[in-house]
Amino acid sequence: VGGGLIVKVTLGPAGPDADVSPGITLLEAWPGRAGLDPVCGGKGRCGGCRVRILDGDVSGADEDEIEVLARLGSRPEHRLACRVRVLGDVRALADPPGGAARTPDHRGSVPVSTPAAPSVAAAGRLGLAVDLGTTKLAGYLADLGTGTLLETDAIPNPQRRFGADVISRLGYALTSPRHYRQVREAVALGVTELADRLCRKAGRSRGAIREMTVAGNPAMHHLLLGLDVTTLARAPFQPATVEPITVPAREIGLPIPALVYFLPCIAGFVGGDHVAALLATGAGTLRGGALIVDIGTNAEITLARDGTLTTCSCASGPAFEGAQISRGMRAVAGAVDKVWLEGGRLRFRVIGGGAPAGICGAGLLDLVAALLATGTIDRSGRLRAGAEGVGLLLTQADIRELQLAKAAVRVGIEALLRETGTAVEAIERVYLAGSFGTNLDPEKAVAIGLFPPLSPDRFVAVGNAAGQGALSTLTSPEKRAEAVCLARKVRHLDLTSRPGYQEHFLGALGF
Ligand code: FES
Repeated sequence: VGGGLIVKVTLGPAGPDADVSPGITLLEAWPGRAGLDPVCGGKGRCGGCRVRILDGDVSGADEDEIEVLARLGSRPEHRLACRVRVLGDVRALADPPGGAARTPDHRGSVPVSTPAAPSVAAAGRLGLAVDLGTTKLAGYLADLGTGTLLETDAIPNPQRRFGADVISRLGYALTSPRHYRQVREAVALGVTELADRLCRKAGRSRGAIREMTVAGNPAMHHLLLGLDVTTLARAPFQPATVEPITVPAREIGLPIPALVYFLPCIAGFVGGDHVAALLATGAGTLRGGALIVDIGTNAEITLARDGTLTTCSCASGPAFEGAQISRGMRAVAGAVDKVWLEGGRLRFRVIGGGAPAGICGAGLLDLVAALLATGTIDRSGRLRAGAEGVGLLLTQADIRELQLAKAAVRVGIEALLRETGTAVEAIERVYLAGSFGTNLDPEKAVAIGLFPPLSPDRFVAVGNAAGQGALSTLTSPEKRAEAVCLARKVRHLDLTSRPGYQEHFLGALGF
């Protein structure tokens, strides 16, 4: 067959045809990749592009392909579409292990815990989904045989000793290959420790973990995979890759006999954790307007509107997580998490009861809203003279920290509304992901200007949506395909390069 010829690829007896040039791979020729789940991006590793060749003229299989096909328990007519070169007319059927990928169904508005799909073949085997966050690593251990969720747990990210935020950790990692190794090993040890804790709690062994999925922000994702982080650390903050990746755990320093699936990323500051949150909220199929907001040290926000997705990220800083606040702490026992006015006096609630040890992000937001209502803080954020240290030791500097954080998020939301021509009233739902989002009081968040004026009943707390999304991809080729679709569908907005960003930010600082 000469290079100038056209050959026909037919997908099954009644499937669509494609006219292609000979020599390209069957995966490249496959219309819309329909029915396939090429999660490794065509690297011949995942098996998700497995097809049955019904007849036709194709290249032979090499040893690597034969090995992957054998691992999947394939039949002689099976091939990997990313390895097969089309030499003449071909008829083929998609046949990825675990069933064909499909377009996601419409989901309800509130995500639910989605354990792995049960499988008799997987009896005794475990799956581990990890949400790889800057501050903490959260894990979900599932029994692949029964499809039940066995345990969940979280540990602090051991990389903290190299810096509280992503940029300082990347900066440290880039100073020498030894430092890079240290930062990388820290996260690998963290994931191993998390796996051990979960297995101990479940009375199982780490050696039974056979499938893993990881949803992480791009820095965590790159470091665990051992990818180059040079371009992630400086403007314009480009990831080395955004493709989904599947690797054996041992290749990335995890002493676990599993294959690890990393969810795809979107941009330099928007990673697989946000893709997983979009997956868990069914963002790709939401009708009307919705915001999916995950606020941590960095905030990722997506505006979903009639099937389109526009995303931005903002440096919200650590104030919402209770850090860099004089009496700030995380939302754990001893933290004030609610503050309100009663008969003109401040009342508060402490997690677990007892005397307050400090205040978490949600409590801080409540407190500032209450002090705004009483006029103790003015619209510019200034504490009235004599009000310094109002019972909970809130300082002027704390208020400034909160103003910077809320302005960053608000500017992001306004930019998304502006860029998509969406009126505030068209936002029917605001999905709040993550711990801060789960704890905050929407009314207070609107009162301090973190969110535009929307009625509290439009806000829905969805818990750790990133973890839920990662869990749902543990054994489901459909969910992995959906994650890839979502990541590709998203339009990413780089806020800082937008005209007028600085002015918008300054304008959003006041209350
Ligand atoms: S896409 Fe072919 S094996 Fe992964």
